[in-house]
Formats: sequence, C-alpha cells, structure tokens
Amino acid sequence: MAAQLLRVVGVSKRFGGLSALDDVSLSVAQGEIYGLIGPNGAGKTTLFNCLTGLYSLSAGEIHLGGAAIHGHKPHQIVAAGFARTFQNIRLFANMTVLENVMVGRHARTRAGVLGAVLRCARTRGEERAIHDRSRELLDYVGLKHKGRGLACHLSYGDQRRLEIARALATDPQLLALDEPVAGMNPSERREMGALFLKLREGGVTLLLIEHDVKLVMGLCDRVAVLDYGRKIAEGTPENVRQDPAVIAAYLGSEAP
Ligand SMILES: Nc1ncnc2c1ncn2[C@@H]1O[C@H](COP(=O)(O)OP(=O)(O)O)[C@@H](O)[C@H]1O
Ligand SMILES: [Mg+2]
Repeated sequence: MAAQLLRVVGVSKRFGGLSALDDVSLSVAQGEIYGLIGPNGAGKTTLFNCLTGLYSLSAGEIHLGGAAIHGHKPHQIVAAGFARTFQNIRLFANMTVLENVMVGRHARTRAGVLGAVLRCARTRGEERAIHDRSRELLDYVGLKHKGRGLACHLSYGDQRRLEIARALATDPQLLALDEPVAGMNPSERREMGALFLKLREGGVTLLLIEHDVKLVMGLCDRVAVLDYGRKIAEGTPENVRQDPAVIAAYLGSEAP
C-alpha cells in the first residue's frame, strides 16, 4: 500500500447552527485519484475550504505528508505542496493567459510577486525561468498557442484548463479540483479525464470533486460519498456504486 499523503481526521465545520461537516475522516494515498461525490450542499466545497486553509476547523486535524496543516494559512498550505482550483473559476480576467500561470509560479520563488514588479537585477534570471516554465505548463494542459490572449477571452473549458496550469505552477504534490469539468461537453470531459491521468502519471496525487458520476467511476481509484456533511461511504467505484446508502442518498433509483 502506498504512503498516505493526506490524512483528514474527525473534521467538523459548523456555520452557526448548521453542521456543514460532521466528523469526516479520510486518507488519500500518494499517487491515487481520490473522488469526492455527493448531492449539492453535502459539504464537498466546505471540505476543500477546510483542507486549503480558507476555513478554520470546528474540530479535527489535517495532515499532509505527516505534518499538520490545520490552522495554517492558505499560502503556507500551497507552499507545503497542496494546490487547488475553485468551483467558481477565479482567474485574473484582464491579465494574459501566460501571466495568470506566472502569478502561480511567483508564489513559489524567492523573488516573490513584489520582486517581479520591481524587476531588480537578481530577479531577472528567475523571471526568465518562470516565463519558460509557465509556457511549458500551458503546453501541458493544452493551451500551447493561447498564452498571449486575455484570460477572459478563453472559452469556459479553456479557463478551467488555465486554472489547472496556474495551480500546477506551484509544484503541488496534491492537487484538489472542485468540479473541474462542470459546464463542459462530453468530448471536453474526455479530454480532461485524459489530462487527469497524465497528471497522475507525472506524480501528482488528485483529489477530485465531481458531479459527473460516469467520469468519477471511470477515473478514480477510490471514492468517498458525503451526504449532509457526513461520509456515508468510501471504497472503489464498484463498491460505492452498489452501496445501498449511496444509492438512496445520492444516486436515487437510477444507479449508474
Ligand atoms: N461560508 C458559509 N457560510 C454559511 N454556510 C455555508 C458556507 N459555506 C457553505 N455553507 C453551507 O454548508 C453546506 C455545504 O455547502 P458546500 O460545501 O458548498 O456543498 P457542496 O460543495 O457539496 O455542494 C450548505 O448547506 C451551504 O449552504
Ligand atoms: Mg461545491
């Protein structure tokens, strides 16, 4: 069994009287694609926000590669090797596609964003390296010739690819994707599926929130199901799809 990269232990998150996450525990192994599914409002995005430091926990612990990351700031969690994308795309709309990736890369370098703005001599070499690596990443996600255009002019599907490139620019070990194929047509979805497999081959562990059950079942090594903030099932896609609690809570009578 591969080493555990991410360990979530007894995480709860309350918003006033609402229990958005209730004692959720799960582990993601190095090198797997781990799916997180469940009905709208089940707590999936809330869990991502807890994992990536946007929300404080009401209870529980989160460990990345053996080190506690709960209570850490989002940029510290990125620096520890955990990047994400957002359910609602968050790009710099009026920057170019390439610049969007370079911003992600700057989060990772010594010069930092301020150094890049000041363009002092020391940073110029780093700037070149950031530029080259960002171009490589655009190529990697399938946006090779689109770097000069504005991010806001990309198609919806390409904006999602750009978000992934920007996240990859921080050199993550673990990449969390919140509904990365939402709004895409079937052929775009297949292409994204191929990208996820390529990422895993390249050594990135993936945590995937997805509504497209067919995609999840086809791609994921393991799947967890959330319902009303609780983990109601976990296992291989085959096991989870036959679980009566899952069928009742999520898939309805039309189990795939
Ligand atoms: N910042 C917040 N403040 C109050 N309630 C929230 C907040 N974020 C999420 N919730 C609530 O938590 C529950 C889970 O939401 P969410 O994690 O977005 O679900 P999912 O991503 O599974 O659709 C919902 O009832 C939602 O309204
Ligand atoms: Mg969500």
